[in-house]
Amino acid sequence: SERTNVAIIGMGTVGAGVAQLLIDHGDRTARHAGKTIWLSKAVVRDMKKPRGIDLPEGVLTDSIDDVLNDPSIDVVIQLMGGLSPARETMLRAMEAGKDIVTANKALLAEHGGELFTRARELGRSIAFEAAVAGGIPIIANVSQCLSANQILSLEGILNGTSNFIVSQMDEKGVGYEETVKVAQDLGYAEADPAMDVDGTDAAQKLAILSHLAFGATVDWRDIPRSGIDGLDPDDLSYAGQLGYRIKLLATARLVDGELELSVGPTLVRKGTPMAEVRDAFNAIRVVGDAVGPVFYHGLGAGQMPTASAVVADVIDMAVGRTPITFQTLEYFSKDRPARAVQRD
Ligand code: NDP
Ligand code: HSE
Repeated sequence: SERTNVAIIGMGTVGAGVAQLLIDHGDRTARHAGKTIWLSKAVVRDMKKPRGIDLPEGVLTDSIDDVLNDPSIDVVIQLMGGLSPARETMLRAMEAGKDIVTANKALLAEHGGELFTRARELGRSIAFEAAVAGGIPIIANVSQCLSANQILSLEGILNGTSNFIVSQMDEKGVGYEETVKVAQDLGYAEADPAMDVDGTDAAQKLAILSHLAFGATVDWRDIPRSGIDGLDPDDLSYAGQLGYRIKLLATARLVDGELELSVGPTLVRKGTPMAEVRDAFNAIRVVGDAVGPVFYHGLGAGQMPTASAVVADVIDMAVGRTPITFQTLEYFSKDRPARAVQRD
């Protein structure tokens, strides 16, 4: 049709950014999509809460059924966090004939198998570029641009909040509790920031990337992980004196045909690209057997970088480009065994 109608469910940090991009830059999205992308509904829990954005009359609603029962809505942009009711909402939306764009990595890491199977059965698509590394297009790169390669290893800073906290502590000497609060205020942290600082969020993202890069089904709980919550400011200063920074690194590498995975604070030599990743930036170094090493760097958390990835997925859907990730998951019909090992 001439128009793709979309609905946002969850108007928090990311949802408000997506609404702002769709409304303020409708001309740009229309140019790229070849048609208008129209924000039909935005679902919130509390209609009175300020959202920092002027939505057109009739767009805001507190009823998910307004979206599910509206056959004119083509794409549901699922931006509420957590597992429930996010999972049920996504299933119901697909059953109602809607394609999905989401940034919810916790949901995909936990229920991705069920959700993608159901999408396949229903002939629906799920796009999730924003779920890993915010504005860096790592999902498209790993599953599409590097698809000629056997990926040999993948290592990165996948949690913007942790990197922000460690950067602030390391370079500005700000205290831990204080920086957690700033990361929350800036919209980087999860609703429960414990998931950022204890390595859970990075492990969930690593599990998603490992599926795409290596064809391995990984339960994120099996990934040995520790976070930055146990770091002492003295650790940072001793590392600094020895010429290192401490970064929360997520690593996946093929060793003798098996996949080794881990998440943890790691010494990285100063002056190397990974050591100089600051604030809420993320970085990922991927090594492919044909391309060699490739390095990605960009904002991994925050309102507009994340909205950038979400809206790109929406444009892809409006154009009719099936998310490449969906095809990739079809392709990897046979899983490779993944072995989770302790970091040495
Ligand atoms: P927020 O907590 O800021 O926003 C979540 C929103 O979902 C809130 O507005 C909340 O409503 C709403 N919500 C929750 N439950 C319901 C419900 N049952 N019905 C309607 N609305 C509901 O989170 P973010 O915007 O930061 O994150 C959204 C998702 O994107 C999460 O899955 C997160 O992991 C992911 N993400 C976030 C990034 C970031 O930088 N912030 C980056 C990449 C991914 P209310 O306002 O009423 O509480
Ligand atoms: N809380 C996450 C982070 C958001 O800090 O990286 C991006 O996924």
